[in-house]
Formats: sequence, structure tokens, C-alpha cells
Amino acid sequence: MRWDPGCLWLLDQLRLPREEIWVPCRDEQAVAEAIRTMQVRGAPAIGCAAAFGVALAWRAGGAARARASLELLAGTRPTAVNLFWALAEMRRALDAGDDVEARALAIWRDDIDRCLAIGRHGAALVGDGATVLTHCNAGALATGGYGTALGVLRAAREAGKSVRVLADETRPFDQGARLTAWELQRDGFDVEVIPDNAAAWILKSGRVQLAIVGADRISKNGDAANKIGTYGVALACHEHGVPFYVAAPFSTIDLDLASGDAIPIEERPWEGGRYPAFDVTPARLITAIVTERGVFRPPYDLR
Ligand code: MRU
Repeated sequence: MRWDPGCLWLLDQLRLPREEIWVPCRDEQAVAEAIRTMQVRGAPAIGCAAAFGVALAWRAGGAARARASLELLAGTRPTAVNLFWALAEMRRALDAGDDVEARALAIWRDDIDRCLAIGRHGAALVGDGATVLTHCNAGALATGGYGTALGVLRAAREAGKSVRVLADETRPFDQGARLTAWELQRDGFDVEVIPDNAAAWILKSGRVQLAIVGADRISKNGDAANKIGTYGVALACHEHGVPFYVAAPFSTIDLDLASGDAIPIEERPWEGGRYPAFDVTPARLITAIVTERGVFRPPYDLR
């Protein structure tokens, strides 16, 4: 994303990888629509975009309109807690009478810093020459920039390691095939797309050294909601002795939730099929959670 005062520019993630189209959002309605339709997606990215949506409302109509925009933006997508975290931050800025636009910019920059720190902490988990499985897109496109799971892989490469990536395709929006492959290829990674239903078989082959994914909401005990199919990858990793890591900033941790049972799961309306968009991987299947504060291992007690 890019910010011009008065306009949030979003790289349209529905058009990638064939077309690189930047969509201008000049008011909060446009931002809400972009989040709802998934022109922008990925937990930290929708938090950043929503913060800019509040800033646009504030520029146009002051504090009253900005407060109304909080509700509009909160109604766009239910699972990723970063959205509600960012809106709570914006509400605090409004309550304190702070510069709301400056607060949105700070949330965005802070998200990139968190990703860089996640990368620094996580790089040690990736061996030189490793083949890594990832699921969905937890990259620069899904965050303020740099990425969480893909940030770890970027940092490993910046540390001089060679990394090969297998990207699960992730239906029905194909984030892995369209977005992860696109952004890693642009960065010069060796990346191959695999169908989600090939992951277990490939993990059994012994050719994958680790799996790393992002998250949309993590409860205090370490249960992690992420793109549907993540749970299956974690089960297959467990069965075949492959470490399974989750990388996420603390803005993804829902400190109000003791376990993942209460995480709301979004469904995609789609004719002729049932598409829950997320699943919850129980903490016992997660080898470690990589955050900007360091690498956490079980038993998780995140706070
Ligand atoms: O439905 P999406 O594309 O917003 O789902 C995104 C994911 O599940 C990502 O893996 C998650 O948000 C982590 S992004 C750093």
C-alpha cells in the first residue's frame, strides 16, 4: 500500500499476478469495500488499511465521521484480529485528540518494523539449503511490508542462506498460487506452487525441512487461526516429524481469548460449495510461534 495525504493506494490483489493495478481509496467507504472484496487482504494489511480508512474519514469530516468509520470498517471481515486491534488504536487516538493521520502512518510503519524483527528472530530456524512449505500468503502483500512467514524466509536469505519455497495454492482465492508465488518470484526466490492436497504427500517424502505460515488470530494458549488448510498441513507435519512454525506480530494475538474455540470463522459465499475461509490449528501442533519479541515455544502463555 501507499499513502498520499487524502488517498490510500492499494495494489489490487484480485488482479495479481496478471495485472498490477493500483486502486485509489479516497474515503472510508472505498477502504471498507476494498477490504470486503479482498482487493487488500492478509491480517496485518487489513489492519493498516483500516487505520488509513479512519484517517480519510477524519480528514473529510473530523472526529464524528472518524468515529462512525470505526463501526463501518469493523464490519468488513470477522476473523483477523489485527483489524480490531488497529481500530482500537485509532479510537484511542481519537479519544486523546491526537493527530489521527499520524497515528495511521505510525501503525503502518510499526507493522513493517515488527515484520523485520520477526524475520531477525525467525531466520535462525531456517537451515541453509532448506526447502520450506508455506500456506496462503503471509508476505509483503499481507502486511505493511516485508511479511511475517515470508519475512522469515527473506531474512534467512539476507543472512546468506539459500531457501527453496513450496507455496500451497489455497482455494478459492488462490493466494498461494497468485500472490506468494508472484512476490517471491519478484524477489528471486526459487518457488514452486503445489496444490493444497499434495502437501501431506510431499511432507512424507522427507524433502521439506520446515513449514512456516502466518496467522489471523492467535489465542493466549497458542491456538492459531489461519487460512483454511493450515490445520491439515500442521497435522501432516506432526505425522512426518517436520517442524511447523507460525509467524505473527503481537497485534495478531487476541489476549481476550483463552483458546481458539471462540475464534469467529469467516465463510466465503460461493455457489455450489462450502468454503470456510480459516481453520484453527491447536497449539500442540505448533513447534514455535515467531513474533517481534522473540520465538515462543510450548507451553504457550502469550501475554
Ligand atoms: O483471507 P485472507 O487472504 O485475508 O487470509 C490471509 C491469511 O490467512 C494469512 O495467512 C494471514 O492473514 C497471515 S498474513 C501475514
